[in-house]
Amino acid sequence: MSRGKTSCKSLKICCAVSAILFLIIAVVIVVLLFTLFKPKQPKVTAQPVTIKGFNSIVWPLISLNVTLGIAVTVDNPNYGSFKFKDSTAYINYRGTIVGQASIAADTIPARGKHNMSTFADVFVDELITSGDFRTDFLSGVVNFTSTTTLHGKVSVLKLIKAKATSYSTCDISVNVVTITSDSVCTSKVKF
Ligand SMILES: *[C@@H]1O[C@H](CO)[C@@H](O)[C@H](O)[C@H]1NC(C)=O
Ligand SMILES: *[C@@H]1O[C@H](CO)[C@@H](O)[C@H](O)[C@H]1NC(C)=O
Ligand SMILES: *[C@@H]1O[C@H](CO)[C@@H](O)[C@H](O)[C@H]1NC(C)=O
Repeated sequence: MSRGKTSCKSLKICCAVSAILFLIIAVVIVVLLFTLFKPKQPKVTAQPVTIKGFNSIVWPLISLNVTLGIAVTVDNPNYGSFKFKDSTAYINYRGTIVGQASIAADTIPARGKHNMSTFADVFVDELITSGDFRTDFLSGVVNFTSTTTLHGKVSVLKLIKAKATSYSTCDISVNVVTITSDSVCTSKVKF
């Protein structure tokens, strides 16, 4: 009789303890989903542009054929991967696209960092601009801008997904005398 009472009491205690444990686990999971596992914005940094190949001709027409090295570093702070599609970087000279380069699709693992790099062959001659190119070239500095857009997706635990698009632009000054380049780059991520 008293034995039965005890087991009933311990069953109640057991139920109460399980319920509390269950509640604690549920709270921990919810907190994790809203903090640790919440998709965070990947950090994208455009690296300075480098010159990989250079060729210029001044007769009969001035032309410039230069290969630019473009690189962006993508830092994924998520406890999940950041995957982005194939994309293209464009090089612009005074409003005209004068070169492009493709960037292969990639997946950056959880809390990983990747450098994405590509080369763009840029060709400019006097025919594509109305006198500006000759002036720029003879001044010794030709300016370009590059734009790189990455369309990607962050996925955490294969459950939580968020789209992230990164935009990087660089103002590039190519010195055609010293064959060096200066660049100022900015990046932003739309999440
Ligand atoms: C530019 O130079 C590269 C290598 O130096 C060459 O393969 C390419 O054909 C050149 N492009 C033009 C349009 O001259
Ligand atoms: C990416 O490139 C930058 C600059 O070139 C370098 O400092 C860094 O160590 C590289 N990071 C990785 C993960 O390769
Ligand atoms: C080229 O860029 C440099 C640095 O941003 C700037 O000082 C210069 O005025 C620019 N030249 C032209 C022709 O726009």
